[in-house]
Amino acid sequence: MKRLVVLVSGGGSNLQALIDACADGRIAAEIILVLSNRADAYALQRANRAGIPVALKTLTSELVQGGTRTSYDFALAQAVAEARPDLVVLAGWMHILDEAFLVACPAKVINLHPALPGAFPGTHAIERALAAYQCGEIVESGVMVHEVIAEIDAGPVLGTEVVPIQPADDITSLSARMHRAEHRLLVDVVCRMVGT
Ligand code: GRF
Repeated sequence: MKRLVVLVSGGGSNLQALIDACADGRIAAEIILVLSNRADAYALQRANRAGIPVALKTLTSELVQGGTRTSYDFALAQAVAEARPDLVVLAGWMHILDEAFLVACPAKVINLHPALPGAFPGTHAIERALAAYQCGEIVESGVMVHEVIAEIDAGPVLGTEVVPIQPADDITSLSARMHRAEHRLLVDVVCRMVGT
C-alpha cells in the first residue's frame, strides 16, 4: 500500500473523494496523514470521521513563536516527512509553498487547480473564468492536476478535464460542475501515480 499525505485548508470535498476511492479500492493507497493550515477546515472533520490522523499547523502560530514563513514551510515539510509518504497531495491547500518546503519534502508533491494549464493561476480561478466567459474571451474552463514547483499553479501537468461553460451558468452552477470534475480528475491522477 502506498502512503498518501493530503494537505487541506477548506471544506475537503476533494479529500473526501480520495478517502472514498481509497476505501473502495479504486486507489491502492492509504491516507496516513491529513495536514491543515486552518483550524476551522471542515476537511479535518472528514478525516476524523474516516479515522485518519490529522495535524494542524498554522502560519500564525509559527509567527507568534518567533518563526518566519520559511521556518513555517520547513516545519510543514518535517511534519510531512515524518509520515514517510510516497505522494503528497495538495487538495484545496491555500498556502503557497516555497522552495524550503519543496527541498525538504521527501516525496513528489501534486496540486489540484480549478483552471486549465496556463489559465487563471492563483485564487478565485472559477470566478475569473466565469467573468472571462461573460466577456466572450473563453468558452470553456477546466481543472488540472500538476506537479508542484516554486512557480504558482505551474509545473508538469499530470491531467486535465475540460469543463464547458454554459450561458445560464452562475458561480454556483459552474463551481458545482468544476468541483465534480476535480473529484474525478484527482482520483484518476492519484490512482495512476500510486499504481496497483
Ligand atoms: C478546490 O476548488 C481547489 O481546486 C481549490 O480550492 C477548492 C477546495 O475544495 N484550490 P475542497 O476543500 O476540496 O472542497
